[in-house]
Amino acid sequence: MILATGLTGMVGKYLQEILEVSNMEFMHLSRNELDLRNPDSIHRALAGKKFSHFIHLAAETNVDLCETNPQHAYTSNYYATKIIAEYCAQIHARMIFISTSAVFGSEGKVRYHEMDVPSPTNIYGSSKCFAERAIQDICKNHLIVRASWMIGGGKERDNKFVGKILAQLNEGNTTFTAVFDKFGSITSAKHLATFIMNTFDSKFVGIKHFASYDVCSRYDIAQLIIENINAHCVVKPVSSASYPLAAPRSTSEAIYSIIPSDILEEVSYSWKEIICHYLKDEFHVKKELFV
Ligand SMILES: NC(=O)c1ccc[n+]([C@@H]2O[C@H](COP(=O)([O-])OP(=O)(O)OC[C@H]3O[C@@H](n4cnc5c(N)ncnc54)[C@H](OP(=O)(O)O)[C@@H]3O)[C@@H](O)[C@H]2O)c1
Repeated sequence: MILATGLTGMVGKYLQEILEVSNMEFMHLSRNELDLRNPDSIHRALAGKKFSHFIHLAAETNVDLCETNPQHAYTSNYYATKIIAEYCAQIHARMIFISTSAVFGSEGKVRYHEMDVPSPTNIYGSSKCFAERAIQDICKNHLIVRASWMIGGGKERDNKFVGKILAQLNEGNTTFTAVFDKFGSITSAKHLATFIMNTFDSKFVGIKHFASYDVCSRYDIAQLIIENINAHCVVKPVSSASYPLAAPRSTSEAIYSIIPSDILEEVSYSWKEIICHYLKDEFHVKKELFV
């Protein structure tokens, strides 16, 4: 039996689709049953439950909200995870946790691997970093997968960077601006869901990075989309200083993996391949995309 949180989120929707067509027995603990902000509700939701794996996807993912409300951020992302880790340890279940490349940043490297020591630049990254440490300290049988800039949701649910550019293109916009001085690697939410499924038989314990093997900026992403959909549009590079946000962002949140594991189908793509496949598969972009 698999228990999961966050199956209504971007990664969770893909995972739920895969779980539904698998033979695996699973149960989703939604916000109504398990509210990350309410420790009592977590204890109540877990009490007496027996399961072999707990996939903890739910989190407060609004980075700027975390910055302005640290108590909310640490309660939702750190303390809730700690309670779940304690329960998993108690019943000898395996805990699978999705963390973030935002645990890095203040060292100023271009890319971070699993052996780099986390040093976040904002509260969101810090809250996930504390969650990782709690799991490592408490639940011996764990897998922590760090993702970077996440791409996913498709036509219905993508309200992030790619979705916004496509919506503006649909509205007839011909001039775009995109930040050129912040970098990340790209994680496909769909690939991540498949990767999580492939870890069920794995004995690997520790942290794995899961993202494109190369690095891009939002400007690079916007350029790629425009080139593939409407080459007559123009993307103007702007500095991050033009978009002041509550939470400071690292110059780079890019990650790559140097740790071998026994996890099946561990394929790494370039950021261009991930975006192009996403546009083709989920937005049915007809133009022949270069990958
Ligand atoms: N998105 C990214 O760019 C990114 C990058 C790296 C890592 N991650 C990590 O990947 C994981 C999945 O992210 P995602 O992008 O799929 O997240 P998402 O789309 O923002 O969805 C968040 C999920 O968490 C649930 N949730 C939020 N607050 C909750 C609460 N108080 N109690 C119970 N459930 C709550 C939401 O449930 P409702 O539907 O009820 O709101 C939803 O299912 C997260 O752990 C995140 O930190 C995300």
